[in-house]
Amino acid sequence: MAHLVAPSILSADFANIQRDVEMINSSNADWFHVDIMDGVFVPNISFGFPVVKAIKKHAKKPLDVHLMIVDPDKYVQAFKEAGADILSVHFEACTHLHRTIQNIKSHGMKAGVAINPHTPVSVLEDIIADIDLVCMMSVNPGFGGQKFIENTYHKTALLKALIKNKNSQALIEIDGGVDLNNYKKLLQSGADVLVAGNTVFSSKNPLQTIAELKTI
Ligand code: DX5
Ligand code: ZN
Repeated sequence: MAHLVAPSILSADFANIQRDVEMINSSNADWFHVDIMDGVFVPNISFGFPVVKAIKKHAKKPLDVHLMIVDPDKYVQAFKEAGADILSVHFEACTHLHRTIQNIKSHGMKAGVAINPHTPVSVLEDIIADIDLVCMMSVNPGFGGQKFIENTYHKTALLKALIKNKNSQALIEIDGGVDLNNYKKLLQSGADVLVAGNTVFSSKNPLQTIAELKTI
């Protein structure tokens, strides 16, 4: 499968959100990556339902919603209603992860699990066959524009082996610090989806940067 690129809306210009959404619509990007932060699970607050709905109104590609929040079960239905197509919850935020995944799927969304940089991929052994996506954090979640953690390559390769071993269909998404220098090595390590915030939105020509991230 050709790899996917998911620009992160966190780095967009919120005063011109429609313009930035249209830019992604007209690009080679595959998904919109939408970061939800609650100020509890992570030390930052991003945005909530009205903004997700505003993005959805103009988006012509799937919304890949990454929940960095405690107690995500409470909001599964609300994110479905706001327009999420893929909903990822953090392993570290879920006491009953299997139940949460079933809840997401029962609402007709694809289900993902995000893991922090310190969380080993082996914790996914008994859930990997049930999920559509693993969001592998390559920075500590909470902010855009952080430095990529090099151990991610090793973890990606381990996760790829686990997915194969368990006959899982899960895609590996890399989130944080992805740029034009490291994305090829990530793809070689087994990445399927590249999230890019700062790299896309701080570049002089975001359309061209997205096109470059799509090349192998
Ligand atoms: C970090 C978020 C990321 C972030 C990536 O907590 O989950 O999705 O937007 O931004 P960059 O690509 O700038 O590191
Ligand atoms: Zn994210």
